[in-house]
Amino acid sequence: MSELTTHNSIQGIRSAIGAARVKGKRIGLVPTMGSLHDGHLDLVRAARANNDVVVVSIFVNPLQFGPGEDFDAYPRSLAEDQQKLGDAGVDLLFAPGVEAMYPDGQEHQAEVRLPSLTQILCGEGRPGHFDGVGTVVLKLFNICTPDNAYFGEKDYQQLLLIRTLAHQFDFPTRVHGVPTRRADDGLALSSRNQYLTDEQRAKAPLLQQTLQDIAHGINAGAKQYDRLVQTGKLALRAAGFDVEYLEVRDAATLGEAGATGDLRIMVAANIGRARLIDNIGVER
Ligand code: PAF
Repeated sequence: MSELTTHNSIQGIRSAIGAARVKGKRIGLVPTMGSLHDGHLDLVRAARANNDVVVVSIFVNPLQFGPGEDFDAYPRSLAEDQQKLGDAGVDLLFAPGVEAMYPDGQEHQAEVRLPSLTQILCGEGRPGHFDGVGTVVLKLFNICTPDNAYFGEKDYQQLLLIRTLAHQFDFPTRVHGVPTRRADDGLALSSRNQYLTDEQRAKAPLLQQTLQDIAHGINAGAKQYDRLVQTGKLALRAAGFDVEYLEVRDAATLGEAGATGDLRIMVAANIGRARLIDNIGVER
């Protein structure tokens, strides 16, 4: 395939992917909510490197937004996104409307739930969010039947959730995590960075700096993570962040950090209209 073809219906994308499948092509899927930035394009590049046909989905999924969250305000830029995807060598774009994805209505949609992973960290502040994410991603896996699917490590909890769901529901899809793309000053790229004023944008790299400081402390031998975390929270609050959580967790489960095993330092904080998340790993 060469030029980007856009499909809005499930039937349309299924038959395009089916036609590639019968020719023995390997399918790579990059699920997104659009408003694409270089972080998304890293996912596309990873997919392009290992698949014959690259499918990107753009769907702002109402099921993963809570009441009062930014579903209506979430940036949408389909024409620009199509241009970027065409330039990046994507073959198929699946851009359904809400009625196509939830024909029985959102309130009647069956949902997948994995409480042990979805009610902690981001799941505490955003009840139901990950049920909506898991549900839409499994629908996308059923629709697109990908051999490989690509997700950013910036959404680390989401990545673990999707890996676990794919495994527990016996999908043959391999779920790949792609390292977080950052601006030169360290801020993780996110579509929600558009909500930052200039003043808030100047402060935003402190999030990544705080994670790095904690990682340095751990690498230097600190055992009392709570102290490092408290110092980090104070620094963030002093700069005007409303810290939702800042935690050192076990990297494999996001449960409590034990004496061994890799760690993941996780943060979510609000500044102005923007809710920012970030995380980094510490190998042990
Ligand atoms: O990370 C996102 O953009 C979304 O949560 C995803 C995975 C596309 C599901 O809507």
